[in-house]
Parts: sequence; C-alpha cells; structure tokens
Amino acid sequence: MIYGTIAVLIRGFCIDLTGKPQFVVYERAGQGKIPAHALALEIRLGESEEGTVGVIQKAYTAWKAEKSAAAGEVPLPSCAAVYTDGKLAALYWIDNDLDSARKRLTEQNDSPRAGTPAISGEVINAAERAAVVKNRVTLVTGGAQGIGEEIARSLAAAGAVVFIADLNLEGAQKLTDQINTIEQRTAALALAVNVADEQSVEAMFSAIAESSGGLDLCISNAGVLKAGSVLEQDLADFKFVTDINYTGFFVISKFAGRLLRLQHLTAPAWKTDIIQINSKSGLEGSNKNGAYSGGKFGGLGLVASFAMELVEYNIKVNAVCPGNFLDGPLWSHPEKGLFAQYLNTGKVPGAKTVVDVRAFYENKVPMKRGCTGKDLIRAIYYIVEQEYETGQAVPVTGGQVMLH
Ligand SMILES: NC(=O)c1ccc[n+]([C@@H]2O[C@H](COP(=O)([O-])OP(=O)(O)OC[C@H]3O[C@@H](n4cnc5c(N)ncnc54)[C@H](O)[C@@H]3O)[C@@H](O)[C@H]2O)c1
Repeated sequence: MIYGTIAVLIRGFCIDLTGKPQFVVYERAGQGKIPAHALALEIRLGESEEGTVGVIQKAYTAWKAEKSAAAGEVPLPSCAAVYTDGKLAALYWIDNDLDSARKRLTEQNDSPRAGTPAISGEVINAAERAAVVKNRVTLVTGGAQGIGEEIARSLAAAGAVVFIADLNLEGAQKLTDQINTIEQRTAALALAVNVADEQSVEAMFSAIAESSGGLDLCISNAGVLKAGSVLEQDLADFKFVTDINYTGFFVISKFAGRLLRLQHLTAPAWKTDIIQINSKSGLEGSNKNGAYSGGKFGGLGLVASFAMELVEYNIKVNAVCPGNFLDGPLWSHPEKGLFAQYLNTGKVPGAKTVVDVRAFYENKVPMKRGCTGKDLIRAIYYIVEQEYETGQAVPVTGGQVMLH
C-alpha cells in the first residue's frame, strides 16, 4: 500500500461523511508517537485497497465512539496515523481546505473537527454556479498559457485548488505564483508533465494524490496544432499532433480514472469529472488540418467510450468544444500566431493586416466574436453541476457549429 493511495482513501472517507471536499496532506513519521486524537490505522504491509477501506471504517467507528459532537453533526478526524507492526509510518492531516490542512501539519494540531452529515441533492443557485468548484481539487493540463491559463485563473478565483500541469514548468510556476498572490492562499500548484508520456502522467497523478489527497475535476486541455495538407504533411508531424491531442487524452484518462476510482472506494456517492477541451474541429472537418481535426473527432469517441465505462465509479466524462479562441497566443502571438501566419501565407484573400485576418474569422461566427475564457468556464461549471449527463460534447462556438 503506497502513501498516496492511503491519502486518497482517507480523503474519500471524509468526503463520504460530509458530502463536501476535503484535503489531506501527509508526512512520513519514522518512529514518532501517534498524536492523542488521531484516527489510528493499523495497515499491514501488502494490504489490499479494499482491505484498507475496511480498516478505515472499523477504526472510525471506534474513534467516533470516544468523540463528542453537537446534535446534527458528525465528528471528523483531523489526523490519521498509519502504523505497521506497532511502528508509526505516516501521519495524514485533514481539513476543509489545503492551507488549513498544511497548518495542521505544521502545528501538529490533531484536535478533532465536526461536520454536517452528507445530504444528497444539494441545490445550487444558478447565479452562484461557480460554487460547484469551491474547495475542489482540480487539474488543468497545458495550463501555463492560453485556454488552460484562463480556466486555471477562473477555477482559482472560484475557490478551487488548481494543479497547473504543463510541459513548460517555468510558465506554469510563474502563473501559479501570480494566482497565489492574487488569491492570497495556496490556490494553485505547478507540476511538470508531458501528456504524451505515460510515466510522466503517472508521476503527475501520484504527486497530486500525495499533496492534496485526491482529485475532483480533471481538465485535459494540453493540445497542439500543426496544420498541413493530406498530400504534403510529414508523418512525423501527423504523429506529433496525434500523440498529444488524441493519445495524450487516453493517457490522462487512464491515470485520472484510476485515481478517481480509488477515491470512489471510500466516497461512493461523490461525483467526479474528466473534461476534455476538444474543439469545434472535433465536430466538423478542418481544411488542410486533418491531424488536428481527426484527433479531436477521435477524442469524442474516447469521451463517449470512457464515459460508459467509468460511470460505474460515478466519474462523468464530457468534452467542451470551443470555437476559435482569438485572444490566446495560438492566434494572437505577434510572430508565431495564426493571424500572422495566415497573413504571411495569403490564406485570407485580400487581407492586408492581421486586423483583416481577425475580422475574417470573427465574421464566420454568427455572434461575430471569438470564444473567451468566460464562455468556456461557464460550460465547465455546467458540466460539473449537471449530475445527470455524461459522454457529451458541449459546443461553445457562438453558433458557428450547430448540432444536427
Ligand atoms: N486556441 C483555439 O482557438 C482553440 C480552439 C478550440 C480548441 N482549442 C484547444 O484548447 C486547448 C488549448 O489550446 P490553446 O490555444 O490554449 O493552446 P496554447 O498553445 O496557447 O497552449 C497549450 C499549452 O499546452 C502545453 N503543452 C503542449 N504540449 C504539451 C504536452 N505534451 N504535455 C503537456 N503540456 C503541453 C503548452 O506548453 C501550452 O502551455 C487545446 O487542446 C486546443 O486544441 C483551442
């Protein structure tokens, strides 16, 4: 049994008691003493996940009998101590938000908490839709810039903790620092990942489990675009795009699914989400851009298939299909952006400046503008809030692509 796995099971157990998000941070404890109020868990080496669930449940029943709580409240541990052969192996510090859990570790404060028991069917006021991510643990791959950056900023502003994972660790770290300064709390954490590399993705999910105790919302956003004619494009370029946009989503879903399934063992009623940032090019072809469009079409096949399989664990899998995000670097970068490229290659007939190119693309949209981060985050909140839908693609295209 590895420490991250136990963190996820403890988090799930506390979520199940309260119906609310929880955070778990752990420390290896060497030969230390078990804190007086800790939930003591004797876990044998090699214990199975199911066996560990039984240990947690039994230990909690005994622990609860000794603790008092006001009427209508349940006592909650703020520390769980795992020991093997009489020796303390690790301490897990638990609280409602990440900074409080970290403070408990620093102060070694194991005083028990109390929470209201979980009730199902909590009503969310539509005006406060962002509340669906408050205190949730979220992940945005490719979060260092562009669409991912917009999503990460919005999630943090809505009260979530967001792991910003990117090939560009420096960019992810810079954004994380900015967000934490704005939010005045640990709202973001940076991680390095290459979504096309299985080992890198597995290590990323282990790091998430070990630093927060689990995950509620995984946004698979990292993606690339290399346009090219079917008659000309190099196989290497085709594979590069496919590896990241299509295969990368499989790899992310594989390890996200494993983590969320584990959490489900102790939080069976808790719903979690995997959301792929797809594209309008996943709903209609894209001329001389087959690698991109094909990978995005395929992504929707994966979304629907994974949704069927993972529903058993209360994991929803959906996609958001944005129209052109014209303000992001992919389009607007002064040298490398698509506006500059399309101007230089004469792709837009009669265009003399990048402003003309932009106007051409805006005019393709019935709503006459590009997609923004605000448009996308609304779709994400909708998907998280909507408990009765999975395997779907939500278009956010200003009417450019209409479902038929
Ligand atoms: N920009 C648009 O108009 C648009 C429209 C529809 C959909 N999308 C989709 O939105 C997503 C984000 O696009 P964007 O425009 O913000 O792109 P972007 O190029 O601005 O940002 C992509 C981010 O992903 C990271 N990344 C690239 N390869 C990676 C890898 N292998 N592992 C981890 N991180 C990696 C990059 O470092 C970068 O930070 C993509 O999936 C894209 O297909 C974009």
